[in-house]
Amino acid sequence: MNKQPLLEKLEKGNFQLSNRVVMAPMTRSRATNEEKAPFDIHVEYYRQRASAGLIITEGSQISEKAVGYINSPGIHTKAQVEGWKKVTEAVHAEGGKIFIQLWHVGRMSHPDFHGGDLPHAPSAINPNAKSFTPEGFKDTVTPKEMKLAEIKQTILDYQSAAKNAMEAGFDGVEIHSSNGYLLHQFFNKTSNIRTDEYGGSIENRAKILFEVIDAIKEVMPEEKIGLRLNPSLNGIFGMTMDEETIPTFDYIIEKLNAYKLAYLHLSEPFNDVSDIPYAVTKIAERYRPIFKGTLIINANFDQEKGNSYILEGLADAVAYGKPYVSNPDLVERFEQNAPLADWDADTFYTPGEKGYTDYPKLSVSKSI
Ligand SMILES: Cc1cc2nc3c(=O)[nH]c(=O)nc-3n(C[C@H](O)[C@H](O)[C@H](O)COP(=O)(O)O)c2cc1C
Repeated sequence: MNKQPLLEKLEKGNFQLSNRVVMAPMTRSRATNEEKAPFDIHVEYYRQRASAGLIITEGSQISEKAVGYINSPGIHTKAQVEGWKKVTEAVHAEGGKIFIQLWHVGRMSHPDFHGGDLPHAPSAINPNAKSFTPEGFKDTVTPKEMKLAEIKQTILDYQSAAKNAMEAGFDGVEIHSSNGYLLHQFFNKTSNIRTDEYGGSIENRAKILFEVIDAIKEVMPEEKIGLRLNPSLNGIFGMTMDEETIPTFDYIIEKLNAYKLAYLHLSEPFNDVSDIPYAVTKIAERYRPIFKGTLIINANFDQEKGNSYILEGLADAVAYGKPYVSNPDLVERFEQNAPLADWDADTFYTPGEKGYTDYPKLSVSKSI
């Protein structure tokens, strides 16, 4: 029997996984059709990776307004639901489990996606980043500050996307409140200078997240809702930490204990933040004692580090991103302590099968 913690079953409350290896959400920009709907190659890509304890799909826009990357699939139209149905059926047929990541990019979008209209954001502050448009990378613009009615509509869009996700056969949804996108933009003082009920205090800046969870809870079981946060994101995707950033995440994560969520998915810092006075450099160490539910940890993990985090009780499961691009059978490779194949970053976001469905599985037979 293989004793690696990563390969043990996870059974916590109503959330059960056959192993603790999670496929992290990754935008792959393959929805190259008018409908922005998943099709055959998506079915094959996710099917190949179904031995993961849990697959979290690429970020999928909850509405037209939410889009901000070329060829990302949505979950707001009939055609998209039909496309995703084939994906969930294929993953389930292989015995896998799959959540969809619900995405609104906010100010990371570009007028090119919206017929010239400005992207929506908590405040009219340009992230001074790049947006991945149909014409390549372009500088972001100063977005439009959302009106209250637009915030309410966005919450409803999350709700109807979650309803669509259930119809499409997903095992759950992951709210993308991470990586500098819309919900994360609400959390930080540097991106949210609103003076109404959605800005000003920590509670107000976190309010939209809880309203989104509450709205989604109305259309699906709370135990099927996951959530992603990246507290120490700084200098990437236009985000700048401030002295209230970590206290805001402390407040959010403590408050999440009142819910029976499937899991909380946290990222360790994406880059070196040791010289940022406001940053926490060890995310699992800070938040494992605070969050009482299932904790998935991510970013720059290999097999050894993943096993040791679980063994030390710092996380319940580990999400792997780039290793899953090039190792569809990551779980089997861990089982066999086999070497991993390298990923090709040049084909992360290119159309078609190359660099997507053509990474081979290990051909060697199982070792002891
Ligand atoms: C090609 C690519 C696309 C990504 N797209 C998403 C995404 O849609 N949603 C998300 O939350 N994170 C996204 N990420 C971040 C990954 O989920 C993960 O946090 C990151 O790759 C670090 O984990 P790793 O070191 O295991 O790759 C993406 C990363 C890569 C490499």
